[in-house]
Amino acid sequence: MSCEPTQKKDQPVNTTWWKEAIVYQIYPRSFKDSDGDGVGDLKGIISKMDYIKSLGITAVWLNPIYESPNDDNGYDVSDYRAILKEFGTMEDFDAMLKGFHERGIKVVMDVVVNHSSDEHEWFKQSRSSRDNKYRDYYHWWPAEKGKPPYRHSLFDVNGDAWMYDSTTNAYYLHYFSRKQPDLNWENPAVRQEVYDIMKFWADKGVDGFRLDAFQFASKDITYPEYPGLSPTNFIEFYAMGPYLHDYLKEMNQAVFSKYDVMSVAEGAGKTYQDAHDLVDADRNELNMAYAFDGVDIPKPEGYSLLKFKEVFSEWDSAFAEKGWLSIFLANHDQARMVSRYANDSAEYRAYSAKMLSTFILTMRGTPYVYYGDELGMSNPGFTDISQYKDIAALNEYQRIKNTGGDLDNFMKALQFGSRDNGRTPMQWNGEGKAGFTTGDPWIELNPNYAEVNVEQEQNDPQSVLNYFRELTDLRKSNPVLVYGKYTLLDPANETVYAYTREWEGELWTVMLNFSDSEGRVDSDIDWSNQNLVLGNYESPRTDGTLRPYEAVIVKR
Ligand code: NOJ
Repeated sequence: MSCEPTQKKDQPVNTTWWKEAIVYQIYPRSFKDSDGDGVGDLKGIISKMDYIKSLGITAVWLNPIYESPNDDNGYDVSDYRAILKEFGTMEDFDAMLKGFHERGIKVVMDVVVNHSSDEHEWFKQSRSSRDNKYRDYYHWWPAEKGKPPYRHSLFDVNGDAWMYDSTTNAYYLHYFSRKQPDLNWENPAVRQEVYDIMKFWADKGVDGFRLDAFQFASKDITYPEYPGLSPTNFIEFYAMGPYLHDYLKEMNQAVFSKYDVMSVAEGAGKTYQDAHDLVDADRNELNMAYAFDGVDIPKPEGYSLLKFKEVFSEWDSAFAEKGWLSIFLANHDQARMVSRYANDSAEYRAYSAKMLSTFILTMRGTPYVYYGDELGMSNPGFTDISQYKDIAALNEYQRIKNTGGDLDNFMKALQFGSRDNGRTPMQWNGEGKAGFTTGDPWIELNPNYAEVNVEQEQNDPQSVLNYFRELTDLRKSNPVLVYGKYTLLDPANETVYAYTREWEGELWTVMLNFSDSEGRVDSDIDWSNQNLVLGNYESPRTDGTLRPYEAVIVKR
């Protein structure tokens, strides 16, 4: 037996642009409206490209901008090669892409191909007759075989993923809404269509793809009886089907390998092994894992920081030698990070927002920042169902109502966790409609836009916005924050999250107080030789003591 260590000490890291990227996620519907219809659009984004550049981010991920009936705000695509009319035209897209590239910013597109819209031409054809050429583009169950085995739908008002269609006396499968029929990935023609679509965008020069809900693309189409009705079982039972890796390898071969593009899929399976199988470089599938464990932690009744530290530390350690992670606390499917993980009260909102951004931008893995979080935008506190627009919220409300469930409780759950919390319009200034639109916004603004907005924060050196810019600067000029080894300090501390990053002789320590009390890092660090790098309070101390929601970065 050899005594040689399997891992060489100073093994070179494969450096690459997407590991060093700072991704800014834009929900186009809510970012900036240029024509007064209350819906954000591409010209709106174009008008804000200098602002986006000023954030110091290096890549933009756009939620879907394709033609869509908008049952699920664009995650139901009816034409993958056309721009949603409300958002503009292909000329606008080309101008936007050029504008971002001129500013050194990459553009990542959302690819929604577990399902299409029921208004896509493929589905129109598919449902028209059993022998149509497109029939096998989707999953059909002939009704003469009886009712298909139950499958749970995430957005259906009855929770049933099979929808009966009388035209051909058959059921079609939809894991999401009934207007989002699942594409049949077993059909090679479907896969070829998808690769052609991706090449269409890659040929235009886009720099990456985020694959929506892709874990669901491969399914057991013998449809064994489903063992339970809880949504958790649903994920375990459906996700990561038998051919998923084959599809990704094929996609890699057909698309990713031919362009300098980054690739990430939503979800990372059930285990670290699943995640590695999706992203390890030698497998030629995807570039980086995007795991949900971190965003699943906060609950309306609170959460344990110990759990939070454990989740992020374990993921880091599982990926310490191989693979690459995404780091995020928010996206368009989550409520605002400051309201979920920290404190959105007037007293602590800004400290909290800076502290959470410090976390995102000092962890190993590619950071994803959600629009508005650079300002510390928070949940709007909607109280009435009419204020919600999200199909997930509205259909679940209806389902609970139909079944005589507890609507008061559900309204509380929505106020804390609804996706609409994270979709209120970007707050550009304190006037009118926050500078988002001259019309009526498609969803209400957070009433705090008078204080929390770009214009206000731009001129305040202490603002969340200007602190965020310092953080992006720091990350871009210090590879220790990108590639450095991560070590958790003081693991049993229930209120403070502290860790070191080490790289080529540098040793940085990040200390984050997640509570409204004073905190301290209990570790054998020699506090006497630490130099302040950045902090979210005035006059930060470098001795391991922290004020409420304080973030301090020091280096030796
Ligand atoms: C995940 C997306 O992030 C979410 O917004 C969408 O509703 C579902 N996939 C269905 O496409």
